[in-house]
Amino acid sequence: MAATIVTARSISGYSMNMRRKAKTQRCYSKTYRSRSLLFLLSFYAILSVCLSLKSKHFSGKTPYSWVNLVDVEDEVKEDEWYNMENLQGMACNAVHASAVIRHGARFPGLEDVNHLIDIHHRLVNAMEPDVNPGLYEWKNKFPSNNDKALHHLGEEEQEGLGYRIGKRLHTLFVDEDISDFRFIVSSMQRTKESASAFYEGFTRAMHTEDDIDDEFDSEVNDELMRFFALCAKYVYSVDQNKTAYKEYHDFLEGPDIKKVTTKIYEKLGIKEDVLKPVDIRLLFLACGYETAAFKSSPWCSVLDDDDVEVLDYLGDIRHSIKNGYTHNITWLQSCPLLSEIFFGFDETIMEIENTEDDEEVGGFTVGQFAFGHAETIGPLHAILGLFNDSTPIRADNRIHQNNRLFRASKISPFSANVVFVLYECVPEEFKDDEEVETADYYLQMFINEKPHLIPGCKEMHCPYTQVRERYSHYIDRCDFKNLCKKSPLKDEL
Ligand SMILES: *[C@@H]1O[C@H](CO)[C@@H](O)[C@H](O)[C@H]1NC(C)=O
Ligand SMILES: *[C@@H]1O[C@H](CO)[C@@H](O)[C@H](O)[C@H]1NC(C)=O
Ligand SMILES: *[C@@H]1O[C@H](CO)[C@@H](O)[C@H](O)[C@H]1NC(C)=O
Repeated sequence: MAATIVTARSISGYSMNMRRKAKTQRCYSKTYRSRSLLFLLSFYAILSVCLSLKSKHFSGKTPYSWVNLVDVEDEVKEDEWYNMENLQGMACNAVHASAVIRHGARFPGLEDVNHLIDIHHRLVNAMEPDVNPGLYEWKNKFPSNNDKALHHLGEEEQEGLGYRIGKRLHTLFVDEDISDFRFIVSSMQRTKESASAFYEGFTRAMHTEDDIDDEFDSEVNDELMRFFALCAKYVYSVDQNKTAYKEYHDFLEGPDIKKVTTKIYEKLGIKEDVLKPVDIRLLFLACGYETAAFKSSPWCSVLDDDDVEVLDYLGDIRHSIKNGYTHNITWLQSCPLLSEIFFGFDETIMEIENTEDDEEVGGFTVGQFAFGHAETIGPLHAILGLFNDSTPIRADNRIHQNNRLFRASKISPFSANVVFVLYECVPEEFKDDEEVETADYYLQMFINEKPHLIPGCKEMHCPYTQVRERYSHYIDRCDFKNLCKKSPLKDEL
């Protein structure tokens, strides 16, 4: 049976989003109601644009809008994040925002593409053409020179994100010089492409497309955005250490994946054993990658929702080892990034406090936007203490993990983001022209654009000093070189 996923976003421009989204949702609900009909009409389903794979969880390879409900642009409220009125008799305005953003949806790497071509070759030799013509006649459409480059959907994700963040903090950003913003990227092209697309949306929200566009510049900083490639201890003890991935391999070789494989053989009428567990994973990824880039994929036709949940879980085990809590070095190594974020807050507060009453406050960074990878944002989540399930996900406990916090498709999809907004709060009655003796500073955090409780806080808005204190150990004692030493003992010998 063939399956096609309709994505909420589409090729022909942003203004179409609203209508298209409404249409997509109608399409979904219709699909649910007429599922049995779809079964009967499975032969025609190949032409259908409606969905028969309900589950859109592709672990860390999920496009942003498949899992996060993205606000329609017309409905994004200007300054939604700018003011916090009536906070215990205080009025608060945003004075600084700091964002860490994963790059947008991208093409698969060349290794995966070649692997997929090989899998297809084996399948074609083992199956009859008319069992699944779509899959039988599949041709690779991924460009051979676009190794992990951002594609159209990824650019759209970033453009939209830039617009929405710009609009929600409009008053904070609108009259600022380009020099009051900081754009940080990694040495990988896809983070630069993400930053540019983000900036386009951002300037569109500022209504100042004409003059500042060309001046956009970003700084490459791999210690902040690709610490995972520079931290020797992480590389040798986790990333390149096969034993560290034991749970992942156990699940990959286990009964759940075996069952998926058997079902695929049945669907394709295959008698011999031609697919290895790693092939199943890739075929699943192909379904996600192709649907993101080209709207549909014949690879999805061999999977059902249960299979997708199984393979999504496999991806999450991998994500938890590679980018999560499993090994302390994985998240400890993100301390330079965490420090940079908090030093940005410290500096802002210092500038404001040191400005004489009759001076105009200014000259500090109002917006810091840092573009990285799943391996950047995962460790950042963990050092912050987010999505830390009381029982870690393992090969043998999938059934108990249905409500896990650590669901990569939800928390670390393409274009995943963590945004902190720092507020200056003054007593209401002093709001206008009177002198203010003291200001309080509050912090709010947004995960994928939704307010999220900062660990250790009682409310969404949390006193800055309290948050600063909680993480002070990582911020003020971040010794990346020492932390990442391969082996202190061996080095000394
Ligand atoms: C590899 O991972 C295993 C399991 O986590 C660990 O015991 C071992 O020390 C690691 N190897 C290295 C070289 O760090
Ligand atoms: C890892 O970090 C956690 C949280 O800080 C701590 O409780 C634990 O003892 C650490 N584990 C190791 C092996 O250092
Ligand atoms: C994650 O949760 C575990 C168990 O609740 C806890 O022991 C650990 O310290 C937490 N890790 C971090 C980094 O907060």
